[in-house]
Amino acid sequence: MERNFFLGRYLIWVTLLLGQLHGYKSCVEEERNALLEVKKYIISITREEVSDYINVLPTWTYDTKSDCCRWEGVKCNRTSRRVTGIAFGTLYLKENSLLNLSLLHPFQDVRSLNLSKNEDYDTTLFSGMFDDVLGYKSLGRLRSLEILDLSLNAFNNSIFPFLNAATSLTTLSLRRNFMDGPFPAKRYKSLRRSRNLEILDLSRNSLNNSIFHFLNAVTSLKTLFLRSNNMNGLFPVEELKDLTNLELLDLGENKFNGSIPIRVLPGMRKLKALDLSSNEFYASNGMQGICQMTNIQELDLSRNKLVGPFPSCLFGLTRIQVLDLSSNQLTGKVPPALGSLGYLKYLSLLDNNFEGVFSLGSLANLSELRFFQLSSKSKSLQVESEGSWKAKFQLRVFELPSCNLVTKA
Ligand SMILES: *[C@@H]1O[C@H](CO)[C@@H](O)[C@H](O)[C@H]1NC(C)=O
Ligand SMILES: *[C@@H]1O[C@H](CO)[C@@H](O)[C@H](O)[C@H]1NC(C)=O
Ligand SMILES: *[C@@H]1O[C@H](CO)[C@@H](O)[C@H](O)[C@H]1NC(C)=O
Ligand SMILES: *[C@@H]1O[C@H](CO)[C@@H](O)[C@H](O)[C@H]1NC(C)=O
Ligand SMILES: *[C@@H]1O[C@H](CO)[C@@H](O)[C@H](O)[C@H]1NC(C)=O
Ligand SMILES: *[C@@H]1O[C@H](CO)[C@@H](O)[C@H](O)[C@H]1NC(C)=O
Ligand SMILES: *[C@@H]1O[C@H](CO)[C@@H](O)[C@H](O)[C@H]1NC(C)=O
Repeated sequence: MERNFFLGRYLIWVTLLLGQLHGYKSCVEEERNALLEVKKYIISITREEVSDYINVLPTWTYDTKSDCCRWEGVKCNRTSRRVTGIAFGTLYLKENSLLNLSLLHPFQDVRSLNLSKNEDYDTTLFSGMFDDVLGYKSLGRLRSLEILDLSLNAFNNSIFPFLNAATSLTTLSLRRNFMDGPFPAKRYKSLRRSRNLEILDLSRNSLNNSIFHFLNAVTSLKTLFLRSNNMNGLFPVEELKDLTNLELLDLGENKFNGSIPIRVLPGMRKLKALDLSSNEFYASNGMQGICQMTNIQELDLSRNKLVGPFPSCLFGLTRIQVLDLSSNQLTGKVPPALGSLGYLKYLSLLDNNFEGVFSLGSLANLSELRFFQLSSKSKSLQVESEGSWKAKFQLRVFELPSCNLVTKA
């Protein structure tokens, strides 16, 4: 009885829903036409040799019955039916194609604009932007724009004046473009107007340290990727001092060297994730700075030139979950105190010069540990696994290549 009642209610809901779908409002006419203008423009800059077999934006059709909110890459607000997201997907553009930003002015509610592509396709996208109506101020016209993905294009520093106008941005990706140094502070100081910018990805460009003057002003940043650029010299402590809201910093795959900063400015104490992998840092004894970042949950120092014993101040990072010290030149014993870092999920000590005896039993209490790697270039590392301890963790990956494993019953 009760069941039928619920079933009945359910059917009513289904009917209501179908009714709504049926009387579904289509997208706004003006925006639909504007999307078709964009498509026309993209066809005009598509490489001729592909136009025979590649259909540009095939779901964006002139069929008046087709709802543009359902076109591939288009997102709308459910109630207003205005366009809130535009993504072109992978395009096959002529060399040096520019994006005509005037074509985007009609999209007043657009929150997210994605000019990136599928990473697997080796094809040219945009190398610049222009607007013969509003000039550099163009992106400012899109007052709701929060997310701008320009990754995997061929943009160079000349687009910064455009980005300065996009003051509502919270997320900006310029990963894998052609940004490079020099970065004259005067000319590009303007991202300071982006008071809402929290996520900035500049990885895989050719930027050098001159970018820091420019980033200083973006104090709202929480996440900063500068991986794989041409930065060098000492850890940029001073340069980052104004970015007091940073929670994630990725400086991996650069040429930073010297010891890891002994002194860390108070601003950096909020860091939760720090990636300094694939640099040239040496001297593990200068690690006190990092050890003051007590909120750190992820620390990647792999593929550096760290020498000396395991930096024992790391045991103060009691919240750490991911610790990667692989491919360095650390020596001495693997400290049993690692077993006190109770939140560890991932621990890699692969490819160092550790020696002596390490007992797996010292990790027995790490109930979160899922990944553990240890190996040594020194022949004298022995890993001991006595039969008596019961691990609280369930490892999914456990590698001990070229270790002398001694099992005692
Ligand atoms: C959708 O549009 C309506 C009406 O303009 C607005 O009140 C609402 O906040 C919008 N929803 C989202 C998720 O932006
Ligand atoms: C750019 O788009 C605007 C708006 O549609 C148009 O008036 C202008 O002619 C376009 N410019 C070029 C060079 O395509
Ligand atoms: C932009 O589109 C690309 C390709 O479709 C996709 O991989 C990427 O995740 C999108 N970016 C955002 C911010 O959604
Ligand atoms: C930067 O890109 C613009 C637009 O494609 C181009 O005109 C300019 O020559 C480029 N500048 C450099 C230094 O490559
Ligand atoms: C950045 O690179 C340019 C050359 O591209 C050079 O003139 C400038 O001095 C470099 N700046 C820094 C801080 O390394
Ligand atoms: C550190 O890097 C700088 C800049 O590349 C270089 O001049 C210096 O020699 C390097 N120092 C060491 C000890 O490698
Ligand atoms: C694991 O925890 C138990 C109970 O707190 C304690 O007695 C034991 O010494 C710990 N073992 C290690 C290797 O830390």
